[in-house]
Amino acid sequence: MSKVLVTGGAGFIGSNLVDNLITGGDQVIVVDDLSMGLATNLPKSQQIKFYQKSITNHEFMKELLLREKFDYIYLLAAVASVADSVERPYETHQINQEANIYILEIIRKYHLKIKKLLFSSSAAIYGSNSELPKKENSIVDPLTPYAIDKFSTERFVIDCGKLYGIPTVAVRFFNVYGPRQNPKSPYSGVLSLISQAIIHRSTFTIFGDGTQTRDFVFVDDVVQAIVLLTKESEIVHQVFNVGSGEHVSLLQVINAYEIIAGVSLRIVNRPQRVGDIKNSYADIDKLMEVGYKPIFDISKGLKLYWESLKD
Ligand code: NAD
Ligand code: UD1
Repeated sequence: MSKVLVTGGAGFIGSNLVDNLITGGDQVIVVDDLSMGLATNLPKSQQIKFYQKSITNHEFMKELLLREKFDYIYLLAAVASVADSVERPYETHQINQEANIYILEIIRKYHLKIKKLLFSSSAAIYGSNSELPKKENSIVDPLTPYAIDKFSTERFVIDCGKLYGIPTVAVRFFNVYGPRQNPKSPYSGVLSLISQAIIHRSTFTIFGDGTQTRDFVFVDDVVQAIVLLTKESEIVHQVFNVGSGEHVSLLQVINAYEIIAGVSLRIVNRPQRVGDIKNSYADIDKLMEVGYKPIFDISKGLKLYWESLKD
């Protein structure tokens, strides 16, 4: 049994990860301020302790890290919306970068013996680099406060890991979707917003012409990847893309979803969002070389997602 910290564990990816860890017998501590997450996303289990706290609360985080002596740490808490970071650059910076560096600093300063720390970075760091698919060594071009924070924190995690002997790894998620993605904000993930529009028969807004492409990856595949990278002790101080290795346009994904749900969406078009990326598509060879096998293509994933919403 390992002791695991999941920041952002009540959120979409975090709570799916927590399910997996609990099933594997781990003791899990979740820190989440519930700004986007929900306490009800967490399974009822003796193996979980939940703290409704902000990771920017340094006193709390320090005390927690010193007390609990974690084996594994997953840093998932963030303001996950690119557009929101454009609206609130300083606030999001405190969460998306500062708070994570403080956690690293406590580990460094107090020589905490963790087995692995994983930081969730993003495909957003590749920005408008037109090279496709994006490889881990492709040129980065972070275009928004979100992407800048993700890239610089990723470098802190990897390079300070090397400097101070802390076993770390970083992952660049592409567009994750699936059960529990929260559609409550206009900045929520696009598939959660499309789902809402289907359920409520409301109008869906496409920003731009819908030809922008994304590599949509089902959340169970993401959980498979991050558990693998964390538990495999030889994998340290490296960064990995986490995607499906396929890409589709927004119009294609809407069309596939309409067929699965048996509904025709009402659509309006608005101008492209500031900082929006045109094409995003992951090269996942590096991840596959260490044993990752994506199981869900977009149609299988969308069907499961739609089933979970109907329930
Ligand atoms: P999410 O919003 O569901 O999860 C983030 C969680 O962090 C939420 O539960 C939220 O309440 C919590 N949180 C936010 N600010 C906090 C704070 N100050 N203190 C404590 N908790 C806080 O989003 P997600 O999609 O599950 O994203 C998880 C991580 O993966 C994030 O770091 C995000 O940037 C990254 N990511 C997500 C995607 C994606 O497509 N979903 C892609 C790339 C990277
Ligand atoms: C998403 C993630 C981000 C992650 C990045 C990695 C969220 C909220 N964002 O950003 O955390 O780092 O993937 O690739 O999970 N769109 C519409 N109409 C809408 C909403 C969105 O047309 O109502 C468009 C957007 O303009 C964009 C595309 O759909 O072109 C995807 O948007 P979104 O789901 O917000 O994802 P990213 O910005 O790619």
